[in-house]
Amino acid sequence: MAEKERKETVKEKDAETGEAKLIPVYVMGKRYLVPETLTIMKALEYAGYQFIRGCGCRGGICGACATVYRKPGDYHIRVGLACQTVVEPEMYLTQIPFYPANRARYDFEKLTASPDDIFKLYPEVFRCIACNSCTKVCPMDVQVMDVISAVKQGNIERTATLSFSCIQCGLCVSRCMGELPQYHIMQLARRIYGSRIAPKAEHLNQAVEAAKSEKCQQTLQKLMKSDFKQLKELYQSREIEPEMAGEDWTPAKHDYP
Ligand code: FES
Repeated sequence: MAEKERKETVKEKDAETGEAKLIPVYVMGKRYLVPETLTIMKALEYAGYQFIRGCGCRGGICGACATVYRKPGDYHIRVGLACQTVVEPEMYLTQIPFYPANRARYDFEKLTASPDDIFKLYPEVFRCIACNSCTKVCPMDVQVMDVISAVKQGNIERTATLSFSCIQCGLCVSRCMGELPQYHIMQLARRIYGSRIAPKAEHLNQAVEAAKSEKCQQTLQKLMKSDFKQLKELYQSREIEPEMAGEDWTPAKHDYP
């Protein structure tokens, strides 16, 4: 589209209503005008699409909303999470709610902390040619190629630590020349690390013991005997963490109910 024509399609912000300017985007080839302030996900809904798949948390956590797009005059294929990326004029968009990737089947209880177990389940890890396409495509800025390198070196701790932000969107798999299922491999390493290598979290043990204690059980029984009104009052009067609370914030001690 010519630049002059493109400008004409863009309605300027309405000074009276304060409505956002509408910009053109293309969804699977079809053109829509959408407010420029929306994320891709909200823009698709604005355009009349309904998310049945390809949407989960709407907050950049679940990895369900991987999207690829191109921009005019730019040969790069770009990627992003639909719930986090704001639309731009003349984006050509398409959703990738699912991308097939082989996932090994295993009995986790039988796995050990040896990298050999990962190698047996995912021998394809050695097909990595270190092209770095996986890192470039990652919307969470995980250094995926470095993670795969750590797997090949048998360093489970480094694999787990470097891949901690992975949200399993699968975009790395979509670009991999070696056809690796990176996010499944990284997830297995994190499971092994958390279960077999990382030090046990003492505060978790304490919380489990506290939950089993008689005092906690009595409180639970009292709650179960409360009627809806009592539960509602209790819920509404609960202490809520202030929005700007510091990391050291802790709730006051309570004896519920
Ligand atoms: S919907 Fe969960 S990451 Fe976008």
